Amino acid sequence: GAQSGNNPQLNDNQILNISHRGASGYAPEHTLPSYELGDQMGGDYIELDLQMTKDGELIAMHDETLDRTTNGTGQVKDHTLEEIKSLDAGSWFNEAYPEKAKDEYNGLQVQTLQEVIEHFGKNKNYYIETKSPDVYPGMEEKLLEILKDYNLTRQNGPSSRVIIQSFSEESLQKVHNLNENIPLVQLLDYKGTATITDEELDHYSEYAAGLGMSYKKINQDYVQKVREHDLLIHPYTVNNKEDMKQLLEWGATGMFTNYPDVLEETMKEM
Ligand code: G3P
Ligand code: CA
Repeated sequence: GAQSGNNPQLNDNQILNISHRGASGYAPEHTLPSYELGDQMGGDYIELDLQMTKDGELIAMHDETLDRTTNGTGQVKDHTLEEIKSLDAGSWFNEAYPEKAKDEYNGLQVQTLQEVIEHFGKNKNYYIETKSPDVYPGMEEKLLEILKDYNLTRQNGPSSRVIIQSFSEESLQKVHNLNENIPLVQLLDYKGTATITDEELDHYSEYAAGLGMSYKKINQDYVQKVREHDLLIHPYTVNNKEDMKQLLEWGATGMFTNYPDVLEETMKEM
């Protein structure tokens, strides 16, 4: 890919362990304990989904609505950051997974992107997804502003720390036009078995460093084809050892997992 050549972290020799919403198999997704665990368990990147509040702040949340992962309800875009910060983003996990519940998860707050970067610093790696960019005009500009504030937009030097991913090509093209140095990953949503043409691969190579897709839809031929075009391939969301092994054997260059410790272990065994 156009971007992978000069980024020391994005090469064929390093398999990226991407903590999906943190180590979200063990702690409530997108909370600080989840990100911390991901880091401790060997995750190379913290995966972070972005939504935007009514007052234009970027927060780490997967869904467009507050309902599933907080004690609030309704659309993120209809709530201010102050309203969202007053919610409990951890108790739902304790209720849903009593065997994994911890007292410290009760009352956890939703994090803004800035808070996450403040907490972990510039020496951690962030794999950031623009979610529902059509719902949030200005999301890409805001994201790049924040990254620039923390000196995270430069490809070279100590700050090649960020990958931006999206299912929306339009959103990635926007980011690419604003800053062509940030490595981008195009997420692809396949309904059935994944196939990809040389033309598509050439097209993605023009702006993206890699591709991400459900591991359930791909096979060895697909992985090889993507790799032959010098694009990274990061399947999601891979939670058991057998699937991890197979993807690594096929040539995947990393993967998203809710269990970064399991991926660490798998890589050691290979
Ligand atoms: O970003 C990779 C993977 O997380 C995409 O699916 O729905 O979990 O964001 P989702
Ligand atoms: Ca995601």
